[in-house]
Amino acid sequence: MKTTLKLLSILLITIFISCGGKEEKKKEGFSYEKKETTEKTSAPKPEVLPASKKIDLANKGIGPIKSVTLAPDVDQSMATHGEDVFKNMCTACHRTNKKFIGPPPTGILKRRTPEWIMNMILNPEQMVKEDPLAKELLMEFNGSPMANQGLSEKDARAVLEYFRTL
Ligand code: HEC
Repeated sequence: MKTTLKLLSILLITIFISCGGKEEKKKEGFSYEKKETTEKTSAPKPEVLPASKKIDLANKGIGPIKSVTLAPDVDQSMATHGEDVFKNMCTACHRTNKKFIGPPPTGILKRRTPEWIMNMILNPEQMVKEDPLAKELLMEFNGSPMANQGLSEKDARAVLEYFRTL
């Protein structure tokens, strides 16, 4: 009688343990799956925009240009001059509408202030060191820096006017 009781209790205990074990395993599996699905859904959030696609219409950059006023209409003769300057000085690294050594300027005024653009043209060395957006841009382009082409302020302004037409 005693031995059967012992055997019975041992049996009961083992059943209890194995059941408990199973349940734990199940729970683990479940929570693991849950983790995976939450990871999957949170991964493709659109917040990881590259610097070249980021929109920052408050940042004026660092450099000689503090304020630029754009007339409502594009100044065609200034834009044509800017196009010449761009073709001579910039097309080694920039294509108007596709990524090349640097980003394409098409639509750039929807992403950056006119002041930031001109400071980037006139003062790129300091910009890529100190301006947060320019710093990120430099990283996106694997450390190849925007070149200072020694443009006059007038020519940089003309290039900006040309960018308005792209
Ligand atoms: C030697 C190559 C090179 C030349 C020449 C060059 N750039 Fe760049 N430019 C870059 C690179 C690379 C970047 C992006 C990485 C960075 O900022 O360092 C860039 C970034 C820029 C940006 C910022 C673009 C954005 O989307 O935010 C502007 C504006 C720009 N360049 C204008 C010009 C103009 C105007 C000229 C001609 C006067 C010119 N660049 C000549 C390489 C060049």
